[in-house]
Amino acid sequence: MGVPSRLVSAVDAPSPPVFAVRAASAADLDGLVAIESHSFETDRIARRSFRKLVEAPTAAITVAFLPDGRLVGYALLLFRAGTGMARLYSIAVLPEMRGSGVGAALVAESERVAFDRDRFLLRLEVREDNADAIRLYERMGYRRIGRYLDYYEDHANALRYEKRLRGDALSTSVRYYEQTTDFTCGPCCVMMALGHLRKDYAMSPVEEIKLWRQATTVFMMAGLGGCDPHGLAVSAARNGLAASIHVSREGSLFLESVRDPEKRRVMELAQEDFRHQTIAFDIPIHHRPLDVAAIREALAEGALAIVLISAYRMFGKKVPHWVLVVGDDGRHLFIHDPWVEDRSRETHNDAANLPIPYADFEHMARWGREPLRAAVVLRPR
Ligand SMILES: CC(C)(COP(=O)(O)OP(=O)(O)OC[C@H]1O[C@@H](n2cnc3c(N)ncnc32)[C@H](O)[C@@H]1OP(=O)(O)O)[C@@H](O)C(=O)NCCC(=O)NCCS
Repeated sequence: MGVPSRLVSAVDAPSPPVFAVRAASAADLDGLVAIESHSFETDRIARRSFRKLVEAPTAAITVAFLPDGRLVGYALLLFRAGTGMARLYSIAVLPEMRGSGVGAALVAESERVAFDRDRFLLRLEVREDNADAIRLYERMGYRRIGRYLDYYEDHANALRYEKRLRGDALSTSVRYYEQTTDFTCGPCCVMMALGHLRKDYAMSPVEEIKLWRQATTVFMMAGLGGCDPHGLAVSAARNGLAASIHVSREGSLFLESVRDPEKRRVMELAQEDFRHQTIAFDIPIHHRPLDVAAIREALAEGALAIVLISAYRMFGKKVPHWVLVVGDDGRHLFIHDPWVEDRSRETHNDAANLPIPYADFEHMARWGREPLRAAVVLRPR
């Protein structure tokens, strides 16, 4: 990563200060400490901590510097092993350089570094009274996901922000559709597949509910109103696609999370009916999970895959969730996630064509203690 390729100039300023960004080294300690002391009254990072962080494999410090070499800002990322997340732990710009795009360039470079390290989520905390930083993060597409009371040394509250990272995402011709209810993720995946694989098909909320009624294993009551793989495959076949089911075990699914015995009985009967219908529609059922390699093969043949994931790693909720796998770049699977979290803040951009590193995908494509793995592969008929 040569420095010259990352030269940034503040485009809109009359005489733009020119600066560049690069990874920090041990030679930058004086500059880092100076920026820190000019930027924070409390919770300062000490020199010896910077020294360790510069070398640590679990951290990445990006610095911004002027042509004369003087450091004017830094951003510190922390990585925790085994997660798809990185944390923007700290960012600061020398006071005389603020408002010139240095902060934005440091955030953008940190996002690139995190994405390169196979992270798909960037999270950060910011003081509730830090309007400058909050504006910067919101402008760069971060959405607020929480608030912590008494978080800092001086008892100030913190806001927590998050952004899903995209890298240089491949484009996809599979049109995205956002689910309009809490329980239609699976049918929306079927609908996006229909929209892509059938020329004459138009996606709509009416179709969303129709497909849900064709695929659901329960009627509306508290708890799951969702769909099992057999129901999704049957609804896709009923609407003209060729489907195959890949599930880690035989029998009825999702029953352990349902307490009401009457509801369990109805779910069991509905699922039994779907299993019978798979025979009528000639839908093969494979009792082994569809791994990333098999999903990639299916995509290469023009198929799409609906995969069950635990929503925990995506948005912290332990619910079963269906996503549609629409692409592959040799390192990530790209998913359309029909669920747009918190409609006021997240946009389709956060949920459509989202790259997930293979290892993370393997990790998230399972649900419950068992864990259950399930997928439906769809092709044109
Ligand atoms: C938060 C902080 C890092 C932002 O850095 P920055 O370099 O000022 O950030 P930017 O210049 O990219 O963006 C800030 C403003 O400058 C504007 N700006 C961006 N590029 C610009 C340019 N080329 N010319 C003029 N203004 C520009 C932005 O529009 C933004 O304006 P806004 O107030 O309307 O949002 C900086 O204020 C800081 O160091 N604060 C103290 C430490 C701190 O609070 N850190 C955050 C801890 S969570």
